[in-house]
Amino acid sequence: MKVLVLNGPNLGRLGRREPEIYGTTTHAELADLCVGWGRDLGLEVEVRQTNHEGELLDWLNDAADDATPVVLNAAAWSHYSYAVYDACAQLTAPLVEVHISNPGQRPEVFRHTSVVTPHAEEVVVGHGIEGYRLALERIARD
Ligand code: DQA
Repeated sequence: MKVLVLNGPNLGRLGRREPEIYGTTTHAELADLCVGWGRDLGLEVEVRQTNHEGELLDWLNDAADDATPVVLNAAAWSHYSYAVYDACAQLTAPLVEVHISNPGQRPEVFRHTSVVTPHAEEVVVGHGIEGYRLALERIARD
């Protein structure tokens, strides 16, 4: 089964971006890990990252057309993008939301809401990079 792992803005700088919050694993390393975890679970994983909201919307629309399961870390868009909300609403295959940190426990109140959560089968927060493995395991269970 094919699975898309989609990462939103600023996650391309993983490893260099606020490592005390997000860790030292780079996005390229994360992508390799996800592909390997997926292989072990019998999943064909493709990992993408974008800083452009429209690109993420196109990927989500394609996933809706193809009924492809999605692991989504929409990063800051999670907190305010109604376009991402509407795109997630159209998905029919499982959607698992991931955040490396636990946004609900962070001091910025804007992080305490997610437009993705209402559409997600499961939400994985605060497990660091390992959260992506947990999300893929959730998809593999279906
Ligand atoms: C994040 C949490 C968001 O609040 C933040 O805007 C991000 C990353 C996470 O993975 O912990 O960019 O989604």
